Amino acid sequence: MTLPESRVAGDILVPGDKSISHRAALLGAIAVGTTEIGGFLEGEDCLATLGALAALGVDIEHEPGGALRVRGAGLAGLHAPPAALDLGNSGTSMRLLAGLLAGQEFDTVLVGDASLMSRPMERVAAPLRRMGADVSTRDGKPPVTIRGGRRLQAADHRLEVPSAQVKSALLLAGLQAGGRTRIHEPAQSRDHTERMLRAFGVPVSADQGDVAVQGKALLQATRVEVPGDFSSAAFFIVAALIAGREPLRIRNVGVNPTRTALLDILRLMGADIRIEALAEAAGEPRADIVVHPGPLHGAVVPQALVPVAMDELPVLFAAAAVAEGETVVSGAGELRVKESDRLAAMAEGLAALGVHVVPGPDGLRVRGGPVGGGQVDSRGDHRIAMAFAVLGARAEGPIVIDDVHNVATSFPGFTALARSTGLRFEEVG
Ligand code: S3P
Repeated sequence: MTLPESRVAGDILVPGDKSISHRAALLGAIAVGTTEIGGFLEGEDCLATLGALAALGVDIEHEPGGALRVRGAGLAGLHAPPAALDLGNSGTSMRLLAGLLAGQEFDTVLVGDASLMSRPMERVAAPLRRMGADVSTRDGKPPVTIRGGRRLQAADHRLEVPSAQVKSALLLAGLQAGGRTRIHEPAQSRDHTERMLRAFGVPVSADQGDVAVQGKALLQATRVEVPGDFSSAAFFIVAALIAGREPLRIRNVGVNPTRTALLDILRLMGADIRIEALAEAAGEPRADIVVHPGPLHGAVVPQALVPVAMDELPVLFAAAAVAEGETVVSGAGELRVKESDRLAAMAEGLAALGVHVVPGPDGLRVRGGPVGGGQVDSRGDHRIAMAFAVLGARAEGPIVIDDVHNVATSFPGFTALARSTGLRFEEVG
């Protein structure tokens, strides 16, 4: 339950980037040599990837102080797992592993929790079949069953929906295929796999929505320093804007331009957010984000910013609920197939708090105004739970948020960190 009259300020670090942590573990597992990963996100989703890699025979050590050492097995060194790989709530684990395992000698079955078992997997299975893989789904959903021993061939793929998970799966399959695999996306998605492959010594070309990799590649182990997760920082960026009393500094956050569209949207809404101490490591930019509190006004969010702000839209809707005027988001139909139907979850929750919200097929219109207390259902979705937790700072009464256990999938320690900035919570039930 978030209590009103929170006053956010301070100087914080958020946990490591989820997308980069998954990729560091996966590429480390198929590299030659030992990869050291600093700042790895010990959230349930990334732990699901580590668990799967361990079941595939990869040796992973947790160092004191939080670093990980992944002893690379090479592309041909993975072993058949003893049972189906359970990837919990993690779509990234399932889709990226599907690409990696499609070219192996052994069979695997990928399963997950109730949310993951209801998510679309043909978007990755169908293009993998075009490369000669034997990958099947049940009515388009998990379990994903992969028969090994297929020789993969490179292919040219045109994705209908921009998706970093699908692109990454195809790049991982492409590493094992004969020839050059190309992927064309209708809009740019996050490019962490491309950047990290280069850090592991694999050339990847990228030009205007086209990405290509040559097969039979050799990955060289390296050291990866994972920056803070922009998507986690997003909750504190909005909290500071709508309930801040002084600036909030969030240190060492990944600011890869394929992730930070939320900043552009919030600036269109009048936000004062500054980027300081910009640096780079393993091909990924990182910086301090300094948020100066101040009033927001509504905006029509430009279409081009929507696909690259997809994970941040729940908390953007929370910001819109207290902005002056109307905020309009469209082109966000992908939100319906995330860990929950995020458009429905946000629309329903905001309405329960008295916010004027009009749902559309692929977006929401939110009119800012007073936010009441009330009870909302996060539908077991980490980002919905945290979006309402942040909004609680400006509500006129307590907001009770149901089904919050999955916050630990991406943001272990969220409530403790939020309390340290001044957000007020009480555990109920
Ligand atoms: C991710 C890609 C995005 C994002 C997800 C993480 C990744 O999904 O929503 O949280 O790490 O590749 P899509 O690939 O479905 O767009």
